[in-house]
This record gives sequence, C-alpha cells and structure tokens, in this order.
Amino acid sequence: MPPSTFTSHSPLHLAVIMDGNGRWATERGLPRSAGHTAGAEAVRRIVTAAPGAGIGTLSLYAFSADNWRRPEQEVDGLFTLFQSYLADELELLRQNGVRLTIIGRTDRLPLALRSAIRIAERGTAAGRRLHLRIAIDYSSRDALVGAANLVRGRPVDRHRLARLIGEADRGGTAPEVDLLIRTGGERRLSDFLLWESAYAELWFTDKRWPDFGETDLAAALAEFRGRDRRFGALPEPSNATQLRRAGGTR
Ligand code: FPP
Repeated sequence: MPPSTFTSHSPLHLAVIMDGNGRWATERGLPRSAGHTAGAEAVRRIVTAAPGAGIGTLSLYAFSADNWRRPEQEVDGLFTLFQSYLADELELLRQNGVRLTIIGRTDRLPLALRSAIRIAERGTAAGRRLHLRIAIDYSSRDALVGAANLVRGRPVDRHRLARLIGEADRGGTAPEVDLLIRTGGERRLSDFLLWESAYAELWFTDKRWPDFGETDLAAALAEFRGRDRRFGALPEPSNATQLRRAGGTR
C-alpha cells in the first residue's frame, strides 16, 4: 500500500454507487463493455486507496436487482468481468488484509461466478484492514423484506433488524454508512443500502466512474470531514450551552 496522504480517524463506512461506465465508453466511441472494464480499474484504485484513507468498510454497488433488465449480452459481460476480478484480485486482496463479501442474491448468478465468489470469500475471510462488500444482484428493499421474513414473531429493535438485514443480504451486520458517493451525475439512491444510509452524508459528482480516482476520493472525504454531523441533535456550540445551563462540566 502507498503511504497515506489522508488524516486518520476511526474507520469509516463508505458506500459508492459506481455510475457512468456506459457514458464514459460512448463518449469515447467505445462499446459499453469497455466502460465496465475501465470501471473495474477504478475499483482496483479505490480498494487500494481505501485503508490508507481511513475507510474500514467499503460497499460498492456493482449490479442491482433491476439491472437484469439490461440486454443479456451486457449482463453476461458484467458477470464475466466480476468473475475475472475476483480471480485476478484474490491474492492481492489477501496480501492487503482485505476481507471480501458479496451482498445480494447469489442464487440467480451463473455457477462459475458463484464458485468464484465462494473461493474469494473463503480466501479473504481473515482480512482485517478493510471489509470490501460488493453488491451483486442487490436490492435494499428486498433485503428489508428478507429481514422481515426472518423476524418470526419475536419483537425487533433496530439492532436485531440490522442483524437480520445482514442475514438477508448475506453480508453480516454492517456499520452504518458514513458517506455515500454517487458518480455519473445522477442524484438518487437507486435501492442501495437504504436502512444503513439513514444518516449517511451524500456526495455527488458528474465524473464518470472510470475517471474516479484517489484525488476524487480525497476531495469527497475532505468535504465529509468538514460537515457538521448532528444526527438530529443541535450544533456543537448550542450543545455546550445547554450542558452549561444544565450544570454540565463540558
Ligand atoms: C452503472 O453504470 C454501472 C454498472 C451497472 C456496473 C458497475 C460495474 C463496474 C464498475 C465494473 C467493475 C466492478 C467490479 C466489482 C469489478 P452504467 O453502465 O449504467 O453507466 P451509464 O449510466 O453511463 O450507462
């Protein structure tokens, strides 16, 4: 890993909606598949930069449950690309302490991809520097429905529901998303990590995903760290005033 150019804080959960591969390719007179291939390079860059940038969990949206509506050729091409990525990156992920988990349904995926997923998940299970979660055939609403079906009459609170969502999307309990980045100019969540992003800061860029790099990540994180995250409370100075009024010592 290159030395960090970022300040360190407690590990963040960064979620990324990687959009704009197709337009990146079309703008260059290339087939859409070339955009996805270039997108895989951007994934490599961000996964490499993430631990040094203070990120402990990185969730990447690679294929939504609604993406099945794309032409079969594109869908097949994406699955082949995911499979190559998993096989090609396995050793590097392991060396870099990255634990990889696929979130979403796997039962509709081609057998070869399922097998690559199994090998990559088992092979990286000991990774502790970064938890990389790649969403494939993923729908946040389906994960919530899946969690509701696991409730089985027992009362739920937020913690239990979060655990059940992790069971339903097969990713285990994830920390709440701190920052959600969407590239490619659109400004929507597209059924990604809806529960987990309840208090996420949102950061949008027009940049196409294949052009996204370490500098963009640093810019997003710098803006994130400058934001006042109040989680429904009052801004810090008013908090202090209230504490003083209440006889607090802070
Ligand atoms: C959305 O952009 C992107 C996808 C549906 C695919 C995401 C896949 C990758 C980034 C490839 C590599 C991923 C991994 C995990 C190795 P779009 O193609 O819909 O872009 P458009 O809106 O410009 O058409």
